[in-house]
Order: sequence, then structure tokens, then C-alpha cells
Amino acid sequence: MRKRRLAILISGRGSNMEAIARETQPGGMLADCAEVAVVAANRAEAVGLRVAAEMGLPTVCVPSRGRGREEFERELLAELERFSPDWIVLAGFMRVLSPLFVARHRNRIVNIHPADAREYQGAHGYEWAWERGLAATWITVHYVDEGVDTGEIIALRRVDLAGAASLDEVRARGLRIEHGFFCQVLRPLCLGRGGL
Ligand code: GRF
Repeated sequence: MRKRRLAILISGRGSNMEAIARETQPGGMLADCAEVAVVAANRAEAVGLRVAAEMGLPTVCVPSRGRGREEFERELLAELERFSPDWIVLAGFMRVLSPLFVARHRNRIVNIHPADAREYQGAHGYEWAWERGLAATWITVHYVDEGVDTGEIIALRRVDLAGAASLDEVRARGLRIEHGFFCQVLRPLCLGRGGL
């Protein structure tokens, strides 16, 4: 089977990108079904870009600051095209994609959202859980549509927050789960099975 080509889009730290990339290496969960075609960022300062380059992955940066969405996305689409991605994986990518972009790759864009996307959409999902003192929160992996975290849900994973003493701890517990969970969800997608 041909390995599915992932274009991973990031804006910052890139810990999910790194986790996915590691799992595509020999012995990893995605080793037989996926490869990282490119890591793309919309900010040159994104730490994850450096991490990706150090891992030997192709990287591109298409700056979004100070540009209209259409101009930015046209360039991003053109850059991604060069790498022929099968899946576009949003991993901490902090820009909302336009209907034009979504239409071009419909049902081939997935995002990880650090909350239950049916209850909370947008940035700061861990802050939301922490401020409410939730005993547990959820991570959502979903297809990307024209809205913000509104696309069809592929899978949800629970994060136990009992006894979490700070927002940092909530984040750390969540991220630990995100890394494995995202790869577990990507595997059947890359194998062409959809869902978990
Ligand atoms: C993660 O919490 C992810 O769920 C959210 O943004 C954060 C990105 O973290 N969409 P990282 O850049 O993968 O470390």
C-alpha cells in the first residue's frame, strides 16, 4: 500500500507534529501507512518549524501576518500542492481556513481540538476546562469545514483532570493524551478506513 502523504500545518510549538512525525518512523504506529510530506507554518518563529527541520522533514513557511486571507491561502495552497498531500493535518494551526481552501481539500483536512468540540469551539480549550473546574475534559479530532471547530467529529478522547492543581497541569495531561490519540485517529484514515 502506498503511504499516505501528510501535510502538517502548525503555528507554534509543534508537539503534535513531532509526535506524528516520530510515529511515521520505523517501528512507529504510522510507519506502514503514512509519511510526512511537509510541515508548513504561518509564522517564521514557530518553534515547530525548527524541530521539523532538525528531524530532516521538508518545511515551508507561508507568513500570514499583515496579509489578506485570500492572498495567504492562495500561496499556502500552491506550496502544499508541490508536496501532493493526501491529508492536511492541522496541529495547532491558529488560522481559520476559508471556504475556498476547505472546498479544495474537503474531507481531507483534520484538526485536533483540546475540548469537546460539541461544547466548546475556538482557542483556549484547556483554559476553558480549568476555569470551570471540570473533573474531566475531552480532546476532539474532527474534519475541518467552513466553521471554527464545527466539522464532523471523527473521535473523542477523555482526559482525566481529577486533582489537577494548575492550568499547566491540565495542559500537560491533555497534551500527553493528544499526542498518542491523534496518531491513533490518523492510522485508520491513512489506511482508508475512516473513523476509529
Ligand atoms: C494543542 O493543544 C492542540 O489541540 C491545539 O493547539 C495545541 C497545539 O500544540 N489545537 P502543539 O503546537 O501541537 O504543541
